[in-house]
Amino acid sequence: MFLVEKSFISTPRLSLFRPLPHHPRLSFTSPSPNYILKEASRRNLQAKCAHSASTMADGIEDKTGSLKDQLSKIFEASLKVTVPDVHVEPLIVACAKKEFGDYQCNNAMSVWAKIKGSGTTFRGPQPVGQAIMKNIPETEMIESCSIAGPGFVNIKLSGKWIAKSILKMLIDGIDIWAPKLPFKRAIVDFSSPNIAKEMHVGHLRSTIIGDTLARMLEFSKVDVLRRNHVGDWGTQFGMLIEFLFEKFPSGEVNDQDIGELEVFYKASKKRFDDDTEFKERAQQAVVKLQAGEEKYRKAWAQICEISRKGYEKVYQRLGVHLEEKGESFYNPYIADTLDLLRQKGLIEESDGAQVIFIEGKKIPLIVVKRDGGFNYASTDLAALWYRLNEEKAEWIIYVTDVGQREHFEMFFTAAKRAGWLPTNESEYPKTSHVGFGLVLGDDGKRFRTRSTEVVKLVDLLDEAKTRCKAALVERGKAVEWTEEELESTAEAVGYGAVKYADLKNNRLTNYTFNFDQMLNDKGNTAVYLLYAHARISSIIRKSGKDIEELKKEGQLILEKNEERALGLHLLQFAEVVEEACTNLLPNVLCEYLYDLSEKFTSFYSVCQVVGSPEETSRLLLCEATAVVMRKCFHILGITPVYKI
Ligand code: ARG
Repeated sequence: MFLVEKSFISTPRLSLFRPLPHHPRLSFTSPSPNYILKEASRRNLQAKCAHSASTMADGIEDKTGSLKDQLSKIFEASLKVTVPDVHVEPLIVACAKKEFGDYQCNNAMSVWAKIKGSGTTFRGPQPVGQAIMKNIPETEMIESCSIAGPGFVNIKLSGKWIAKSILKMLIDGIDIWAPKLPFKRAIVDFSSPNIAKEMHVGHLRSTIIGDTLARMLEFSKVDVLRRNHVGDWGTQFGMLIEFLFEKFPSGEVNDQDIGELEVFYKASKKRFDDDTEFKERAQQAVVKLQAGEEKYRKAWAQICEISRKGYEKVYQRLGVHLEEKGESFYNPYIADTLDLLRQKGLIEESDGAQVIFIEGKKIPLIVVKRDGGFNYASTDLAALWYRLNEEKAEWIIYVTDVGQREHFEMFFTAAKRAGWLPTNESEYPKTSHVGFGLVLGDDGKRFRTRSTEVVKLVDLLDEAKTRCKAALVERGKAVEWTEEELESTAEAVGYGAVKYADLKNNRLTNYTFNFDQMLNDKGNTAVYLLYAHARISSIIRKSGKDIEELKKEGQLILEKNEERALGLHLLQFAEVVEEACTNLLPNVLCEYLYDLSEKFTSFYSVCQVVGSPEETSRLLLCEATAVVMRKCFHILGITPVYKI
C-alpha cells in the first residue's frame, strides 16, 4: 500500500495544496516515478487552481450538512483542481475496513476512464488518486490520507475535529445536524383507513411508517403535509345510509346505537346482497348523496364521524397527528382532472368504461366505470393534480401495503405521460409508493387475534402497555414510583415496542407480531434501547454535575479507540437520516440507533466516567449520545424514558 501522511492543521492557510516533493510531512513509503506528478504538469495544475483557491475555501467554510457532505465539498474542490476540465461528482463512502480509514474517495478510477487517451499527463488511476489527495484544500477535518489500490483515497478524520463538532452540536442543538434535502415541501399520504370498515394492522403499519417518514422529513426542515386519505366516498355509502334509515327511521343516531361500525357494515352488506329492492334503494341513495341532498349528506357525515372517533383512539395512543383530506374532498376535482387527461389523448373507451392504457400492463387503469361512476384511481389522479398544483408538493409519498403497488405504478405512469411529472425519477416533483409487507401471527399466517377475526388495534396497543406495566411492577417499580410514572413509562415502552418492532425491519418484508419478542429487554428492541437511554441519563444524573456548565467550559477529548468510534458514529447521524429520507427506509435509522447503543456499551465498558480524570469529557460524550438517541426516538415516534 502506498502511504502518505499529511497534516493540514499546521499548514498556513494560503497554501491550499502543497507540492509533493517539497512538503516535509509528505513521504512516500514506496516511491514510484509513476506516482509523482511531473513537475511541469504540477505547475500547470497550480496555475489553473490559483484563482479557485478562495472559492474552494469559501465552499468549505460552509461547515453544515452531514459529515459526508462536508467531505464531498472538500473533495469537490480537490477534483476541480486535479481535473479542471472534467466534471465529476465526488464519490465519498464510509470505509468498509476501519484500519484503512473512516471514509474513502473513490473517484480516481472513473476520472481516469474519462481522461485516458486525451493527452493527459497522468499515467493511470493511482497517480490521479495521488493528485486528488494532494490537492485537498486546507481543512482541519482530515488528519491523514493514504492511497490504496487503483487510487482510492483513504481518509482518516481528525479526532480533534470530531470532538469539536460534537461539542458544537451540544451547544447549538442537534438541529444543526439536520440533513439538507433538495426540496421544500412533501406530502406523506399515510394511515388512510376506510370509513366503516375495519382499521386493520396494515393501517397500523402505514400509520407507524408514515409518521416516521414525516418526522424524518420534518427534522430535515421539509414542510410536510400529513395526509389521511380516508376512504370516505363511494358506492358503499348508499348501502350504509339506507341501512341507517331502516334501523333508525328518525334519523337520530349516536355511536352507541351503531355499536361496532364493522358489524353494521357487514349487516348492511348482507342486506344489500340479499335483497334487490334494498340494493336499488342503496344505488339511488348514492346518487342523492352525490347530488348533495341534505338528508343523505347528514347521514353520511354521521357515519364518517363515528368511524373517525374509532381511529382517533389509535392515533391518540400512538401520538400520531394527521390531517384528514379524504377521498370525498377530491370528488369535485375529478371531472376536470379527467378532462385534462382526455385533452392529452390519454383516455380511451374500453368495454363501456373509460380507461388509460399503460405500456407493459395487460389491464388498463379504469378511470370511469361502466356505470359512469368514478373510482379509486380517478380519485387518486384528481388528488395528485391537486397536490401538485394547489399544494405545490415536490415529493408525494404514499404509504400502503405492497399489494397496491400496481395501482400506484399505473397512475404514476399516467401522470408522467400527461407531463405532470418528469420522467426522470431523480427530478422533482416526484411520487413514491412506500410499500410494506404483511403482519403475520406466530403461525406464519396473516395476523389475527384469538377472539375475533379482526384485530382491534386499540386493544393491541393497550395489551402492549399492560404487559409493560406488569413487567415494571414485577421489578418492584410500583413501590419506588408514583402511579403516574408507572403509567407513562408503561405507555412509552409499550407503544414504543410496537412501533420499533415494525420499523426495524426492512418495510418490504413481512413481519411477525410477537409481544414476547418485542417486549424483550435484551436484543434489538425498543425496550432495550429505552433502557440504555435511561442508564446514560442516570450516569449523568448521578455525577451531580451540571451539564450546561460543562458544555460552556469543558473540553471533549476522544483519546481511546472506543471514545473515537462512538464520537464518529454520533457525527454520522445526519447522513444516516439523509439516507433514510432519500430511500424512505426507517430501518436504516433503527440500525443506526442500535449501533449507537452498542458503541456506547463498548465505550462504557472500557472508560470509567464518574470519578475519572477524564470525567468532564466523558460526561459530555454521554450527554451527546443521549441527545442523539433522543432525536432518533423522536423521529421513530418513541417517547424516551429517563429512569428504569
Ligand atoms: N384507503 C386505502 C386503503 O385502505 C389507502 C389509501 C392510500 N392513499 C391513496 N392516495 N390511495 O387501502
